[in-house]
Amino acid sequence: MSFQPDLLKGKTALVTGGGTGICRGLSLALAAHGCDVAITSRKADHLEPTRREIEALGVRSLAVPADVRDPAAVDRAVARTVDDFGRLDILVNGAAGNFLCMAEDLSPNGFGTVVDIDLKGTFHMCRAALPHLKERGGVVLNISATLHYFGTVAQLHVSAAKAGIDALTRVLAVEWGPHGVRVNGIAPGPIADTEGVRRLLVGPAKERAAKMTPLGRLGEIRHISDAALYLCSDAASYVTGVTLVVDGGLWLASSRMAEAWATAVEAATGQS
Ligand code: HXC
Repeated sequence: MSFQPDLLKGKTALVTGGGTGICRGLSLALAAHGCDVAITSRKADHLEPTRREIEALGVRSLAVPADVRDPAAVDRAVARTVDDFGRLDILVNGAAGNFLCMAEDLSPNGFGTVVDIDLKGTFHMCRAALPHLKERGGVVLNISATLHYFGTVAQLHVSAAKAGIDALTRVLAVEWGPHGVRVNGIAPGPIADTEGVRRLLVGPAKERAAKMTPLGRLGEIRHISDAALYLCSDAASYVTGVTLVVDGGLWLASSRMAEAWATAVEAATGQS
């Protein structure tokens, strides 16, 4: 462990997309540091195994199926969390959709679906959580990406959504700072053993991305969890409006990264 196990003792968190992938790891890390954790996902069967893992770490856990695209379902998920835990200190917006598709082939509904999940879902959650977060001074953490820092092919929809999330992080930091609510983000690079990498970095692209990363390897879920623990803890009490890039330096080598992506798309779709 990089931090003291009581780092978040007495705190409560709600993590969207918390049943799988990066946000499952992040949820377990919060729990391992004393935080009660509620997780949401569209699919109930994604939640129960992780809920049990959280509980096994000795904190309270809650699984709340909810689609972040539905503001009423989001309101219910937040209300249920506060009813069960008595308070809400930390909101992590991690629910995300993604697929490879060139812009010219992308349908309006394909574009809209990802914007609805990633960007509008983040807004819905923030809006529903604010009244509870401002009771004691809370934290919002938005999971973004680095895809929109350069022209990542076949990721127009995701790039638009993630750029919007970064804007939301900055504006809410300014508006909600006076309420004692900090709003930050994390932009992960490719993280090994996640659905995102399985879907998007197919074939040799994964190995190439690892080689192109200045730190010489793909990220691991624990790298994102450690960044999240820092940003959610009092160690970051004067940090707000920041999206922390955790990618081993990969986006700074973006021209080479763009090439790896093009290879991934070619391999996945046969398009070049
Ligand atoms: C083109 C596609 C498509 C594809 C879906 N659509 N998949 N278009 N290529 N591969 C279009 C559909 O045709 C439809 O438009 C619209 O999107 C909605 O599709 P549905 O299947 O009805 O929607 P839904 O079931 O609600 O969700 C679809 C989904 C979801 C968003 C793709 O299945 C999903 O998100 N899965 C992946 C989850 C995931 O991997 N999350 C991790 C992301 S990590 P039409 O016009 O036909 O109605 C991440 C970081 C990446 O993003 C960083 C890596 C380096």
